[in-house]
Amino acid sequence: MIANTFGLAATADHYFEYATVGALQQFIARRRAEGKRTPLFHMGGGSNLLFAGHYAGTVLHSRIAGITVTAEEGDDVYVRVGAGVEWDAWVQYAIDSRWHGLENLSAIPGEVGASAVQNIGAYGVEACDAIIYVDTVDLHTGEVRHFTAAECRYAYRDSIFKQELRGRYAVTHVHFRLSHSFRPQLSYGGLRAALQERGLDEVNLRPSELRHTIMGLRAAKLPDPRVLGNAGSFFKNPVVDRQQIDHIRSKAGQEPPCYDVDAAHVKVPAAWLIEQCGWKGRALGPAAVYDRQALVLINLGHATGSDILRLCRAIQADVRSRFGIAIEPEVNIVGEEQG
Ligand code: EPU
Repeated sequence: MIANTFGLAATADHYFEYATVGALQQFIARRRAEGKRTPLFHMGGGSNLLFAGHYAGTVLHSRIAGITVTAEEGDDVYVRVGAGVEWDAWVQYAIDSRWHGLENLSAIPGEVGASAVQNIGAYGVEACDAIIYVDTVDLHTGEVRHFTAAECRYAYRDSIFKQELRGRYAVTHVHFRLSHSFRPQLSYGGLRAALQERGLDEVNLRPSELRHTIMGLRAAKLPDPRVLGNAGSFFKNPVVDRQQIDHIRSKAGQEPPCYDVDAAHVKVPAAWLIEQCGWKGRALGPAAVYDRQALVLINLGHATGSDILRLCRAIQADVRSRFGIAIEPEVNIVGEEQG
């Protein structure tokens, strides 16, 4: 059974874990020698995955460890982190080491390798703000290749590893640039208010206090996967033309919340669209929409991947027919084509 935070009984033909770049290269060399062409899927911590069915191929997982300072220049510290390191253990380690920039990304489940594929983000910060380059291994040839952050083509929850190079490279290490000075990023709506509620002074704020505030915000909205299976936000927030806002407003009978993207586009919270369609807190068989954050789909106990996928499609259809907007899954769906 393959570990995943949805708590699904996920299976594959084969599962291969490696702890070094050399072990991964040997695995690829063996496959080449045997002329194997069976599918490969590289997973991270299983916190952003939906196994929709049995995976007829090999699932790969990195256990590459290690956090190493590679250079220090003025205020900057450059750190190389193994893909198999748990993301939040890395954030904690950085804060303990007084390296700053990742505090807002506290308590995100998953591993460092996936952070560089998915460009994880929360509370106004994205992984790509700190990533400077990524070490990978080509799963076809076994060759090592380095990608600069620009080559990774980072965008909102997106990178080249989710687009044209999807499935081609395994991330082995991620190189981050953090800073010795602490310049908290507090622009995200609600963050300043949450600090005030905790009696924290923005000026004298300590990194660990920011971390704990973020953890509190997340805990209030996102279910603990050990209690209720889920994969965080199930959908991405759609980017729409500004003209579409008039249509959304007329359909909803109220002003939609939105965030500026550029002169022509805004981002609308998918959670709001889903809630407007009456899905918040609603179940479809053993799968449901979380009652405290409509962007999160949950496993009520014995859901299968196809139960979750059925709920996903029902929500997508309702949002499309009511607002004319296609919302796309943020989680990676494995074992079946995305609908
Ligand atoms: N909202 C609703 N109903 C809800 C929840 C939210 O209408 O049930 C509306 C509210 O207007 C609210 C707005 O949506 O102000 C935004 O909600 P929230 O601050 O919870 O953020 P989000 O856009 O729903 C994104 C990320 C989260 C991240 C938070 C905080 C995506 C897909 N999700 O959610 O990321 O933690 O912002 O920065 O961008 C994840 O990727 O797994 C994840 C949890």
